[in-house]
Amino acid sequence: MHNPQLNKQGQLQHLLTIEGLSRSMIHHILDTAMPFVSLADREVKAVPLLRGYSVFNLFFENSTRTRTTFEIAGKRLSADVVNLNINASSTSKGESLLDTIDNLAAMNADMFVVRHAESGAPTFIAQHLNRTSNGRVSVINAGDGRHAHPTQGLLDMYTIRHYKKDFTNLRVAIVGDILHSRVARSDIHALSTLGCPEIRAIGPKTLLPSHLESLGVHCYTDMKEGLRDVDVVMMLRLQNERMKGALIPSAQEFYKHYGLTEEKLALAKPDAIVMHPGPMNRGVEIDSAVADGPRAVILNQVTFGIAVRMAVMSVLASTRASA
Ligand code: CP
Repeated sequence: MHNPQLNKQGQLQHLLTIEGLSRSMIHHILDTAMPFVSLADREVKAVPLLRGYSVFNLFFENSTRTRTTFEIAGKRLSADVVNLNINASSTSKGESLLDTIDNLAAMNADMFVVRHAESGAPTFIAQHLNRTSNGRVSVINAGDGRHAHPTQGLLDMYTIRHYKKDFTNLRVAIVGDILHSRVARSDIHALSTLGCPEIRAIGPKTLLPSHLESLGVHCYTDMKEGLRDVDVVMMLRLQNERMKGALIPSAQEFYKHYGLTEEKLALAKPDAIVMHPGPMNRGVEIDSAVADGPRAVILNQVTFGIAVRMAVMSVLASTRASA
């Protein structure tokens, strides 16, 4: 079946999911991000790679980190960045998603950055644009339902590579509400593709999806067992907005069993790093002493996110330039 994020030459035309991206493509994006990290230390923090491009941020669901870092990334690439205020847009008057897209495409949009509560919405838009814009417009998935959050997955891989260098000797634990997490799905696909030999999922049975073992993930309901000797701990928040019914007894009970405290973190390797995609709920999935402690790289993830999003936009722009 044709992969809708690749063009006929097999180049990346949209970024919709990490699933199906090759190891070399992931490393290419991470390598492209490296010089953009040091750009932040320069007096002029901009390069002209996307000069003349119009990037539209379409966030149909709330965001702090992704929306803002995409805006900064676009501006550092010298693109014109438009943040559509969805609440004040004509979608509130009943305009369909594709009519909104067609109208923005008519304003010569070059890239759409799309977050949506419905899984598959960015792919739906990309397939529509493939038919109507002849491959001229790219779509970047900024998180769709439970499906995927590819730029979060890529920035997480950038962070792990930065601190641990090599994926092929790592033990990584992903902890919490994996059932509802698009971040967990993207991270699992990325880690597998990059050759991580041991991915662990830790959480209550009700929050561990049944297909994890078919992806080669080892499941643990006992956090102390699951954290033993890991190199990386990735914490996730409870996605209450996506839960149907009570899947855990209470936030307090969850914290007791699955909250990351210094005592539990002591079971991981002494140089283990602690990650969290945000937003964090202190006292639910993570204790402040860990979140603000020396092993947390949570804010570094956010900073790397700008460079990684610049890299994604640059790679998509170079696909278009070579078409
Ligand atoms: N990690 C993440 O997607 O955060 P936001 O929802 O704030 O964008």
